[in-house]
Amino acid sequence: MKILVVNGPNLNALGSREPALYGAQTLSQIETLLAEKACKLGVEVDFFQSNHEGAIIDYLQGADDASGVIINAGALTHYGLSLRDALVGMRLPIVEVHLSNIHARERFRRRSVIASIAVGQIAGLGWQGYQFALEFLSRHLDEEQQA
Ligand code: DQA
Repeated sequence: MKILVVNGPNLNALGSREPALYGAQTLSQIETLLAEKACKLGVEVDFFQSNHEGAIIDYLQGADDASGVIINAGALTHYGLSLRDALVGMRLPIVEVHLSNIHARERFRRRSVIASIAVGQIAGLGWQGYQFALEFLSRHLDEEQQA
């Protein structure tokens, strides 16, 4: 079972980018912890980050062996309709993650074009949000398989 962990624009700068909002951990530290968690859960993870919407879409379209997607689309969350269409096309369970609580910030961040096609959204729990998303999705996929 392979779960994709996708990060959008500017998330490559985690660690130095507004740490009060997004935390002190770098993306590679977050990915290392996720790989450890995946090992314990017995699932495979594949990581991808890009600052370009088209590159993310190409990656998703090429990932035909995936079972689920964890995505923090960065600012594309709020307007990335091509990315949304690509996610819909995958017909896989999606969990949306945000490090910050997008509902407690500027008005434009409260709207997510991904939320309505996701199983759920985790926002405001920092790097741990990715861990919770992975735990949830691996259990969710197990349950789906058994049904
Ligand atoms: C973010 C929230 C977005 O509004 C912002 O553009 C980001 C990060 C988050 O993880 O809190 O790049 O997705």
